[in-house]
Amino acid sequence: MTGRREFLKTGAGAAAALATLASVRQRFLDDLAAASPGLPDRSAYLLDPQVRYLNHGSIGTIPRLVHEAHVRYLRVCETNPWLYMWSEPWVEPIEEVRRRASSLMGVGAEDMVLTHNTTEAFNLLAHGLPLGPGDEVLYSSLNHPGASNPWTHMAPVRGFSVREFQFPVEETPGLSPDDVVALHIREIRPETRVLVFPHVDNLVGLRHPMAALARAARRAGVEVIAVDGAQTLSMIPVDLGGTEVDVYAGSPHKWVQAPKGLGVAYLRGTLQERLHPMWVSSGQPAARGSVRRFEDYGTRNRPEVLTLGSALAFQERMGPATKEAAHRRHWQEIRERVEATPELRWHSPTDWGMAAALYTVEVRGRSAFQVADELWDRHRITVRPIRIHGTEGLRLSPNHHTDPAEVEAFFRAVGA
Ligand SMILES: Cc1ncc(COP(=O)(O)O)c(C=O)c1O
Repeated sequence: MTGRREFLKTGAGAAAALATLASVRQRFLDDLAAASPGLPDRSAYLLDPQVRYLNHGSIGTIPRLVHEAHVRYLRVCETNPWLYMWSEPWVEPIEEVRRRASSLMGVGAEDMVLTHNTTEAFNLLAHGLPLGPGDEVLYSSLNHPGASNPWTHMAPVRGFSVREFQFPVEETPGLSPDDVVALHIREIRPETRVLVFPHVDNLVGLRHPMAALARAARRAGVEVIAVDGAQTLSMIPVDLGGTEVDVYAGSPHKWVQAPKGLGVAYLRGTLQERLHPMWVSSGQPAARGSVRRFEDYGTRNRPEVLTLGSALAFQERMGPATKEAAHRRHWQEIRERVEATPELRWHSPTDWGMAAALYTVEVRGRSAFQVADELWDRHRITVRPIRIHGTEGLRLSPNHHTDPAEVEAFFRAVGA
């Protein structure tokens, strides 16, 4: 092992491998620079022309340029799997991805873990935080199973308790940021050690007032504030700098438009010291004292990790503010149309400051699950049906490259 590494570190093999990876990266950056400025439209993606894609909140699309970089990384890797999967040339390119991911969240690179998805980060917390009998983990019913089930799974093993409180989802359209903070803070008890909440939930798309809620929770004595950012990264600007958030986990396969099976998570430095890795391999000695010990899971998906860097560069070029403005236009047009249609009902926030690029629309008197099936079978429209506390609706999540014709097809199909 050492011999192999030494050879690669010093030998011609390492230099050549590094140069090949750099050329793939440069080719992508050149193609990106040559692409027309502004928000790319549908033609910049690989979507089937027959499909009306209104479900970016479940699984995102990937730009052609990013996909081509991905294929090139995979191809280079297969020219010599031993050289490309295990050797030193990957170290610096991966660190560059870590830097890009951390700047997306306004935090330092030494606090950024490259995981597989949001769910992994919550499993890491549930396995590795020093919790036991007498400690409580708290979240609302808007929490996603990926951020809830790791806790309920580990509670009987570790002896801590978990409490979910009912979020008044039917009141969502009229809630203010102060209301959302108050709904959480009144649930905190002396034994509450961990508060979990989604920055934007996946059911009605409520943008939780993250900084204010984290501040209030800390004042109320919560030790660990863990935010589920699966829906937010590259959907809305995220800046953790100066907040009380301890953990922020994301899934770049959604709005960052990266390959599937990649995750990013911010872990506050002081928390890293108290957290036990969930899985370990041969990399622990080298990673000791660093955030990298939480991503020591053996052979990793390196071509995908480097492509995450390409996806992040693609998003940086669009700019978070421009993207958010595009989401806001879709949200406003769709909301106004829903509100003007008696057969439809809007279940999501009505103030953009509390809203996001995913929102839920009820087709009155119809099962959302049946309507969603019909939309796909008859019109090739993808939406996600949801049910929460007896409310059913179709969750729409268009992206900046959604064509107005796709939205129009949805309204025609539901008879509006
Ligand atoms: C709010 C939220 N949290 C967590 C997840 C889980 O994401 P993943 O499967 O990428 O871990 C999702 C997925 O849709 C989500 O919407």
